[in-house]
Amino acid sequence: MKTVLATLVIGALLAVLGALGVVYSGLFNVAATVEDAPLLRWALVATREASIKRHARDIHAPPPGGVAQVETGFRIYREWCVMCHVPPGRPGPPMAKGLNPEAPDLVEAAEEMSPAELFWVTRNGIRFTGMPAWAATLSDAQMWDAVAFMKTLPQMKPADYDALERRIPLAPQQ
Ligand code: HEC
Repeated sequence: MKTVLATLVIGALLAVLGALGVVYSGLFNVAATVEDAPLLRWALVATREASIKRHARDIHAPPPGGVAQVETGFRIYREWCVMCHVPPGRPGPPMAKGLNPEAPDLVEAAEEMSPAELFWVTRNGIRFTGMPAWAATLSDAQMWDAVAFMKTLPQMKPADYDALERRIPLAPQQ
């Protein structure tokens, strides 16, 4: 019994020393240019999806606000989101090229996620990635507007997006 205990304690100590070795040796490469191994990538995506589902389950979406809400959401998207998330039919924004993980196409996200899930991600961001928590910048009402806009993306053709951009002027610079 004593030997088992001693082996366990020594094993645990070695694991802690090993972990400290990895942390302080600088061997782990934190560069955003390193691609995650497929298994790690799978684990990160599965963890993200399950976490968003769980945390968003008690959020109730307010009733939809129609065209005016979508337009306000478009303004928010253009001001705060396009630098990372590609608008329909456009090439990837320059800054987004260096993101790891990359910022996903919101068309797919809007198809697969409920309004509550889109709201939760927008509000809280995603840790260890470039996705900011917008609660620090936007009000809940503004984030629901952004959700309303995202929900129109799956039906939006590049020409529709161009038309929106022409019709709705840019907000004055603050
Ligand atoms: C600085 C870059 C950046 C900006 C700006 C940004 N995002 Fe993101 N966003 C990301 C990244 C990177 C991810 C992917 C994280 C991951 O792979 O786990 C992401 C993920 C998301 C997701 C989840 C998609 C999915 O498939 O799970 C949503 C929804 C989203 N962003 C909405 C927004 C909205 C709305 C805005 C603007 C208010 C915004 N983002 C601004 C980088 C950004």
